[in-house]
Amino acid sequence: MEIREIRAQIPALANTVYLNAGGIGPNPKPVSDTLARLAQEVAFFGPDGMAFQREEFTQANATRARLAGFFGVDKDEIALLRSTAEGFDIVGHGLQWREGDEVIFGAGDHPAARAIWAILAQRFGIRPVKFELRDVGPDEIVEDVRRLITSRTRLISISHVTSENGLCVPARQLAELAHAHGAYLMLDGCQAVGQFPINPRALGADFYAAGTYKWLLAPFGTGFLWIRKELLDEVRPSWVGAGGTVRFDPVGPVWEPLPSAQRYEFGARYWPVVPAMKAAVEFVDGVGLDFVRARSRQMADRMRARLAEIDGAIDFTPSSDELRTGMVGVAVKGMEGRELMERLRSRNIHIRANRGPDGITGVRLCLAFFNDEDDVDYTAEAIADAAALARARG
Ligand SMILES: Cc1ncc(COP(=O)(O)O)c(C=O)c1O
Repeated sequence: MEIREIRAQIPALANTVYLNAGGIGPNPKPVSDTLARLAQEVAFFGPDGMAFQREEFTQANATRARLAGFFGVDKDEIALLRSTAEGFDIVGHGLQWREGDEVIFGAGDHPAARAIWAILAQRFGIRPVKFELRDVGPDEIVEDVRRLITSRTRLISISHVTSENGLCVPARQLAELAHAHGAYLMLDGCQAVGQFPINPRALGADFYAAGTYKWLLAPFGTGFLWIRKELLDEVRPSWVGAGGTVRFDPVGPVWEPLPSAQRYEFGARYWPVVPAMKAAVEFVDGVGLDFVRARSRQMADRMRARLAEIDGAIDFTPSSDELRTGMVGVAVKGMEGRELMERLRSRNIHIRANRGPDGITGVRLCLAFFNDEDDVDYTAEAIADAAALARARG
């Protein structure tokens, strides 16, 4: 598909310079059409299909299978969720902890992947151990984590791609490290899925949770948990209701969960987002993940080249070429990130403020496969104007 054709399929691109796929991705037409069609069906024919969770309506099995195909894993390893945090909560509350068990977690990780360790520390006396991710190469990152490992380490939990500047951690090496010490690896893939090809099993991860509403362009409020099949019985379901079991009896007590990761899904939910999530996966898969990755990197490289020409622009994208993704972090000397964000937004550029190293604040630019040269150049000009203003203010 030509880039023009791809862009024509994403209506928001006709009205905005959209550099915030790392916040919420813009929905392609097949996604918004699916949502609209199902909302109409519910209105005209009644919500029975949704209430009775019929496959023709919910497409839950088909969506699990489509996601599984996209990630090259088994569909029985996928639970359909509404957010990343839900996956972390399921794993965090589902594992059996002993007081003093240690979890190494990324200090800069999103709260979705960090809050759970605070709760478990209070409730079960686990010991969360902070890992400060430095802007260094993959081997040094692995060495930094290695230094924190003890005989009590049960889990390493980290963003596959960080939200501040898109650093992609060396997941395979971290998985080897964790396993060599009898620990698990859990990755937060919210900023990774839809940026490049990922197979969580091939990476060696044990648990992989992600929202799908960012780079994967699915509706807000969708996500999934992939859990290595061999570990399904290690992670006991903590939130339960209708669905998720073969049978149960509180008096027995009997609790026989479904044999698949569907055991973590239960209760009423807004089902139209599920087929729409499938439509998003089909769209990105149709564009092709190799193209997605290459194009995104190409746009990010162009953006960084333009930033390098601006007096006063500070580029805090990861230095290691191997670890960079489609995200670019930039600050303007003498201007707070929030002001820079407002100035760019007033020119219809969708971005968000973020933090760089050493307390500097700037903005995060997400260059996705659907962005083009005009998006890059227009944004670079707006940043150059902000930098000129900051210089003039002294
Ligand atoms: C790395 C990362 N994880 C998770 C989230 C969001 O978590 P949730 O889907 O639970 O809202 C974000 C962004 O909002 C993120 O950047």
